[in-house]
Amino acid sequence: MKALILSGGKGTRLRPLTFTTAKQLLPVANRPIIHYVLQQILEAGIEDIGIIISPETGGKVREAVEGAFSGRARLTFILQQEPLGLAHAVKTVRGFLGQAPFLMFLGDNLIQGGARQLVSELERGESEAVILLKEVPDPRAFGVAVLDGEGKVVKLIEKPKEPPSNLALVGVYAFTPAIHEAISRIKPSWRGELEITDAIQELIHLGGRVKALKLEGWWLDTGKKDDILEANRIVLDEYAERDLQGEVDRESAIVGRVTVGPGSKIVRSTIRGPAVIGRNVLVEDSFIGPFTAIGDGVVLRGVDIEHSVVLEGCHLENVGPVEDSLIGYRARIKRAGGNRRSALRFFIGDECEVTL
Ligand code: TTP
Repeated sequence: MKALILSGGKGTRLRPLTFTTAKQLLPVANRPIIHYVLQQILEAGIEDIGIIISPETGGKVREAVEGAFSGRARLTFILQQEPLGLAHAVKTVRGFLGQAPFLMFLGDNLIQGGARQLVSELERGESEAVILLKEVPDPRAFGVAVLDGEGKVVKLIEKPKEPPSNLALVGVYAFTPAIHEAISRIKPSWRGELEITDAIQELIHLGGRVKALKLEGWWLDTGKKDDILEANRIVLDEYAERDLQGEVDRESAIVGRVTVGPGSKIVRSTIRGPAVIGRNVLVEDSFIGPFTAIGDGVVLRGVDIEHSVVLEGCHLENVGPVEDSLIGYRARIKRAGGNRRSALRFFIGDECEVTL
């Protein structure tokens, strides 16, 4: 069994962050999303892993993945020149996949409990594909499935205006090589992409058996800002530990499950977990509330912040209360003079969003 991670794509919904980085590298609880994906693939017992990358962000993805996983997995990076769809990505890696069955994982999706169950179901040899479905309140933005009484998939529709069920297709799939024949028969959709949903529908049409498993735990599809904050909240809630490696002075209080990385200093401040503070961070005269992740090298002075993600190298001074915010790499925000009525001055990048 092989695995395929899709880490190309444009990431337009996460601009401006994705002007300089790949969305699969955005951190959840200070670890790139794609690291969780690799971890789950290894836990499912697969070590031969192909990773689809784009010309724009491929180098960075490669660096981030190789640094952390090259000793533990056999990694093959494959360039997809243009993001022409999930099924197009599978076509691009045809040579790598050969005749192997494979687990396919979207590089920006996280699921509770991992992918082992999908792999075991495919290995039973009773289906040509196994998909994962999750009940969602509004399925119109997803691929939607219709099942028969035994959980066999009868039909799949991509982003339907009137969804026939509330079962959305999660971005983790297990396929036998029968999917390649189905992919070779489909045409690009109205948005110009070769859709994996259409390929699975075609597989059913060709007589393939497609089994659906229901995901009862959480599913995070980190395509938008609020999704990243939600992923951060859930992952911190589940995995945060108390581990204080930096220096905490006597006037500070660290409450609950808080991680402080090496080289960091907490001075006259309160941190209430679950929260994670990276390496070489300076926190002075500040309050950091629950569900907050502060990246490496950040400086916070006189800041009140919670339920937020601050990426590497930011400087924040005399601002707050800040909540539900995602602050990009090396951003600087400060209130001059400490007077709330003083003029606001901005020097911010393209497509930023500021709510005052
Ligand atoms: P999407 O989130 O559907 O697409 P995108 O990354 O282009 O984002 P946006 O809609 O904001 O512009 O893609 C899901 C995952 O699959 C994501 O990790 C990127 C990856 N992908 C590829 O690797 N190749 C592709 O051709 C496409 C469409 C996506």
